[in-house]
Amino acid sequence: MSFAYRNGVLCAERISLQTIARRFGTPCYVYSRREIEHNYGEFTRALVGRDALVCYSVKANCNLAVLALLSRLGAGFDIVSGGELARVRAAGGDPRKVVFSGVGKSEAEIAQALRARILCLNVESEPELLRVAAVARRLGIRAPIAFRVNPDIDARTHPYIATGLKGSKFGVPYAQAERLYRKAVRLRDVELIGIGCHIGSQMRVPDPLADAVRRIAALATRLADAGIPLRHIDIGGGMGIRYRKERVAPIGRFVARCLKALGTRPEALILDPGRSIVGSAGVLLTRVEYVKRTARKRFLVVDAAMNDFLRPALYGAWHDVVAVRKSRRRPALYDVVGPVCESGDFLAQRRTLAAGEGDLLAVKSAGAYGMVLSSNYNSRPRAAEVLVDGREARLVRRRERAETLYAGELVPRW
Ligand code: LLP
Repeated sequence: MSFAYRNGVLCAERISLQTIARRFGTPCYVYSRREIEHNYGEFTRALVGRDALVCYSVKANCNLAVLALLSRLGAGFDIVSGGELARVRAAGGDPRKVVFSGVGKSEAEIAQALRARILCLNVESEPELLRVAAVARRLGIRAPIAFRVNPDIDARTHPYIATGLKGSKFGVPYAQAERLYRKAVRLRDVELIGIGCHIGSQMRVPDPLADAVRRIAALATRLADAGIPLRHIDIGGGMGIRYRKERVAPIGRFVARCLKALGTRPEALILDPGRSIVGSAGVLLTRVEYVKRTARKRFLVVDAAMNDFLRPALYGAWHDVVAVRKSRRRPALYDVVGPVCESGDFLAQRRTLAAGEGDLLAVKSAGAYGMVLSSNYNSRPRAAEVLVDGREARLVRRRERAETLYAGELVPRW
């Protein structure tokens, strides 16, 4: 347990969150190095003896310190933009372990990826195939590609984060895949090296993923039989974490089921998990500004808002919210809301909490899709980020200042 109470105070590893709030202020994201390493290790341990690469999905948490940590552990990276590629390189990540998915890669992004000699571009449509081939020809670099195939499988998750159904914008339709492989194999400027899929996020059971892997493996078999052998199969990410009391299969079970579904296929395996590596490794630390009572409700108005943490507003996501210090205050039912001018600005609703003005709260399991989804709405400077390692806490992103909010803006000379 990287976040646990010691003497009545919630700690990140060996440091109290009170100390962190005092040193770095609030709102503040706090990450545990040990937890990230542990979660990553769950993958590598489950993959022992198998030719496999874990490409951490940068979109889940793109802080350079997090990327640098995972890179040192040997991880590759799954990216979705040129900006993420720049981050991976700035963090010292190896471009030869980078896979690039996404339905809208621009010419500039494709060129950037080819020049960086990344491992693979996951092509998501026929027009993209032609664009990648054209850019590769212009640069004189043969493009390593895979098709991201949409296996038409229901990930049984929130509709906003399900990506593997027919109606989704992601991947090439399963029924078109073979034709596209036959077409691509004739293009001199691309090298077909793999096949991939990603069916959705926050899956609680491995069955949909195993079904998808089986379908992709069957396709790989047909392609190999047709004289198109591939080097890798990328099964995406999507392994869920426990936010509430729901049952979620452990990482090892997801991996074991996928390995079984792959059977004896000789291709190397690529996985691109995000949430399951960083989700449980972060909390959002926030302070109560006011306790507000109306005729209908009680509110804890805190200094973090939907611009800092969007998941509750966007997906109705449930995150545990706890008082950092166990107090003798009388527990009551509260909505935990922020200062932003939107009724959707809540971090939690109808929670029993013992907290009052000035107290610290922690929003748990906020390490994935937390800071990365933040914005400056209402001209709110973005929160600080801190990485804890045992007894040490290091600032890994400075709190934004008001001036940085408008530093890029220009007022015309009228
Ligand atoms: N690979 C691809 C191609 C992806 O699109 C994604 C996530 C992942 C891997 C990593 O999935 P994970 O292991 O983290 O589930 N903002 C949403 C989640 C969006 C996921 C987008 N794609 C949320 O807060 O729940």
